[in-house]
Amino acid sequence: MSRMDQTKLPTEAGGAGAPAAGRGVLPQDGCPAVPTRRDFLKQACAAIIGAIATLVPLASGLMVFLDPLRRKSQASEFVFVASLPALPEDGSPRQFSVIASHSDAWNKSAQTPIGAVYLRRAGEKAVQALNVVCPHAGCFVDYKPVTKAYRCPCHESTFALSGKINSPSSPARRGLDELEVEIRNETEVWVKFQNFRAGLPTKIAS
Ligand code: FES
Repeated sequence: MSRMDQTKLPTEAGGAGAPAAGRGVLPQDGCPAVPTRRDFLKQACAAIIGAIATLVPLASGLMVFLDPLRRKSQASEFVFVASLPALPEDGSPRQFSVIASHSDAWNKSAQTPIGAVYLRRAGEKAVQALNVVCPHAGCFVDYKPVTKAYRCPCHESTFALSGKINSPSSPARRGLDELEVEIRNETEVWVKFQNFRAGLPTKIAS
């Protein structure tokens, strides 16, 4: 056997010099290797796994970022404000702070004051709640026991005990904003607290 034949033998017999199944064809004469179908599938799988690994955390982050927009602010939910026995029997109003965990689109705070209301008995098991904010320009109104009326210190709007405007010359264009009330467990006064836009003749939540 010539020296040239000995060099060729291992390749022709499928020995160490032969390309292994599934591997790319070895470069010959300086040409680049041609990828096999198996190489292509491996690369495609790697690309898909890489895309999933990138997109899943991205989607999760996006959901966390947008989640507050789907949540309702607790400020517009019913909030426990007072117990019924704390209200004067004669129907005169008492002012209470409204304390709740306030949440907006991206923040949530612990229990903090979010506003104040006047509560008064309007029957044996009925309570009226009025937002203390003047609907003219947003000052806090005072209750005057002598006149049994609310008065705003800023521009002299006055409101009857029911919350209605007392005088046609009142700068406020609507009465005090009445809020929904629920009596729960016989004695708990819960109020659906809301603020409304000032300066308008009708209630529009702000
Ligand atoms: S803010 Fe109350 S009367 Fe103007």
